[in-house]
Amino acid sequence: MRIRHLALALGAVLLSIGAYAAVKSITADSSEFSDFTDQYRTWQQTAESKEVVDVLAEDPNLVVLWAGYGFAKDYNKARGHAYSITDIRNTLRTGAPTGPEDGPMPMACWSCKTPDVGRYIVEKGEKDYFTGKWARGGPEMHHVIGCGNCHDDDLGLQISTPFTDRAMETIGWKWEDATRSQKQSMICAQCHVEYYFTPGDKFVKFPWDRGTTVDQMEAYYDAMNFKDWTHGISKAPMLKTQHPGFETFLRGTHGRNDVSCSDCHMPKMKPAEGRRFTNHNIGNPFDNFEASCGRCHEQSKEDLEAVVANYKEMVTDAKLKAEGQLVRAHFEAKAAWDAGATEEEMKDALTAIRHAQWRWDFAIASHGVHMHNPTEALQVLASSLERSAEARVMLAQVLARHGVTTAVAIPDISTKEAAQIAVGLDAAKMKADKARFLETLAPEWDAAYKAKYGSD
Ligand code: HEC
Ligand code: HEC
Ligand code: HEC
Ligand code: HEC
Repeated sequence: MRIRHLALALGAVLLSIGAYAAVKSITADSSEFSDFTDQYRTWQQTAESKEVVDVLAEDPNLVVLWAGYGFAKDYNKARGHAYSITDIRNTLRTGAPTGPEDGPMPMACWSCKTPDVGRYIVEKGEKDYFTGKWARGGPEMHHVIGCGNCHDDDLGLQISTPFTDRAMETIGWKWEDATRSQKQSMICAQCHVEYYFTPGDKFVKFPWDRGTTVDQMEAYYDAMNFKDWTHGISKAPMLKTQHPGFETFLRGTHGRNDVSCSDCHMPKMKPAEGRRFTNHNIGNPFDNFEASCGRCHEQSKEDLEAVVANYKEMVTDAKLKAEGQLVRAHFEAKAAWDAGATEEEMKDALTAIRHAQWRWDFAIASHGVHMHNPTEALQVLASSLERSAEARVMLAQVLARHGVTTAVAIPDISTKEAAQIAVGLDAAKMKADKARFLETLAPEWDAAYKAKYGSD
């Protein structure tokens, strides 16, 4: 099996122009490595983290903040890597395509979901990979996050996508010169980072040319006049932060002390019998306290959990305050437009809303930030509150000029359903369309992959 894969991939490399030169071969089917029993078994255990938590239902403010953008339709908490394909197919954000040229999202959306991305780029090149709609990739993108995302065919660590390599070089982390600890974090940074899709060709790029702080990335996006979308209520030119987990981690206590992502999330296990191995069940490190935190810390699990829970409470509290201000700012901007405000009058307030929300999202979308770097999260949320305050002062002045001096009313957004109605979404239709997609096109993709590559 392994030999067949190598031959296929080598042939493809020779044939294709512009393929990914740094990587010779990527095996997408993790079952080819099932002989590595401990690593394979623990990797499969990521399927045990199966709970689906609907974040929009938990916090309907988000529907307002993302009005006009896919995230207002559907957003669940991250769960085990074993669900990466199921979840990208299921989310209402990817819509209900009926064929390869249909649907709201570009190919780039597969980039952090499957080792088939790296395999495909080795075979056909990056330009081909990034061409077209998400649905075009359906018959080629099949396997959940697995060995080929982090390893070469000899199971050495490897970055499997050229866009990650390029981003790492811009911050001076060349793979060849990186320490082992850096490499252990760089492989996670293939996905757990801030990124955007370049206008026009829709390549994945990490916005790190000026650096990786919230200010540097904001300046980067502002300088190129980039926006992810126009806000459905305020009409502000918005940025959607993805998940700058790696960036915030770097500046946290552990990142600064050279502790890697895998030190905590993939600790070394020493079974009573058999060989030491790396635990591949990537999940909550507290589930493995002794091998993870306990390797370096003397405190008890309860003590450290209490510290982290306390940070989480502080971050959540600041987050909700920032959201409250942003929700009001969006509706006040709408009221100003409705009262006859001009683009010129609105410009600075809308920029302030853009910055305030980018900052709020930067802190929140860095999953686990309350553990990785709570001080930065709090600082960034404070700067979000400051920018929202600036926006609201400017909006109050615009409103007053147009004769509005009473408080702007906020519609009922007390539940996800109410908030989705308030921003004009038809949840029932989106769900029916999605069900049709999952019953018709998705099984065709599976069959096509199986026919071409022979694996389930
Ligand atoms: C998300 C990234 C990631 C994925 C996915 C992944 N690994 Fe690993 N793997 C690692 C890291 C990190 C190490 C530790 C490297 C080190 O110690 O420097 C490792 C180490 C290993 C080792 C060396 C021995 C050991 O246990 O330390 C083997 C063998 C291995 N992995 C096999 C696999 C197999 C088989 C799969 C797929 C079923 C897989 N890995 C999936 C990141 C990954
Ligand atoms: C190829 C992209 C990719 C790589 C590489 C990757 N992740 Fe993930 N990770 C994801 C995605 C996507 C999800 C969400 C999956 C879902 O919800 O369906 C996720 C989820 C997680 C979760 C939540 C798990 C749970 O059970 O709640 C943790 C923790 C995590 N990743 C840590 C890591 C660490 C640590 C590394 C490096 C060792 C890593 N990831 C490498 C894409 C990746
Ligand atoms: C010092 C240990 C440590 C390091 C280093 C670390 N993490 Fe975490 N991480 C944790 C803990 C503990 C949690 C869970 C916090 C909690 O219980 O609330 C977590 C949570 C997460 C989550 C959120 C999971 C979820 O379901 O919401 C992701 C994703 C994640 N980490 C990825 C990473 C990545 C990527 C890196 C490296 C860039 C990294 N972590 C480095 C300890 C660590
Ligand atoms: C590889 C070693 C290592 C591992 C593993 C590790 N830590 Fe740490 N931790 C450190 C170091 C080093 C410091 C900084 C100590 C100092 O500055 O005195 C630190 C500091 C801390 C602090 C205090 C600083 C702060 O940010 O508040 C907490 C809390 C903490 N760790 C929690 C954890 C938890 C929880 C885990 C497991 C999920 C963990 N650590 C895993 C090495 C580690």
